[in-house]
Amino acid sequence: MVHPVRIAASILSADFAKLGEEVRAVDAAGADWIHVDVMDGHYVPNITLGPAVVKAIRPHTTKLLDVHLMISPIDAYLDAFAEAGADTLTVHPEAGPHIHRSLQHIKSLGKRAGVVLNPGTPAKTLDYLLDLVDLVLVMSVNPGFGGQHFIDSQLRKIEAIRRMIDATGRAIDLEVDGGIDTETAPRAIAAGADALVAGTATFKGGPACYAANIAALRGVG
Ligand code: DX5
Ligand code: ZN
Repeated sequence: MVHPVRIAASILSADFAKLGEEVRAVDAAGADWIHVDVMDGHYVPNITLGPAVVKAIRPHTTKLLDVHLMISPIDAYLDAFAEAGADTLTVHPEAGPHIHRSLQHIKSLGKRAGVVLNPGTPAKTLDYLLDLVDLVLVMSVNPGFGGQHFIDSQLRKIEAIRRMIDATGRAIDLEVDGGIDTETAPRAIAAGADALVAGTATFKGGPACYAANIAALRGVG
């Protein structure tokens, strides 16, 4: 089965002083999704942005807003991110307290539900969740920061999850996040990924480079 790759531009590497402009620029440069990293300084050792910023960037693109929630506890904030205009809400099982309940809640809000596995979290965590999800996100770095190195052991996990997804017969996206560049992108795709998050590799060089950066990640640059 051929899985055309989608590129999710992570605005964690954008210029936060002009986020609207940056979102428009990566949209025009060919990004398929806009990946928004929400960090609370508690679940992960970094703080980024909240629903107000998601709402502020929403009018700047019609592309899918892929919101990666690295916050704990999580359930109390799901409605706010949905109302702010997120399309996909992706949650970590470890952020708790009840991953199945969080996914049910996201679906009840009419949003795409994603579950994300940290590098130390096994694929079998998905066993009783796959029927609820539209997207599985595999972290190929520990969450919290851009610009880290891709952890090779995650390739085996991507392969395992590709088999699990194909066995469901459902169109569940398999996205990989962290350390994606022109060397690691083809390896993640070969392992079965069909969506790649890229922060550093998208935004390097400034706006004049975004289109070439994204094309290079697709392997057509
Ligand atoms: C890290 C974030 C990533 C980050 C990836 O916790 O989830 O989305 O932006 O950054 P790069 O592409 O620079 O590794
Ligand atoms: Zn992310």
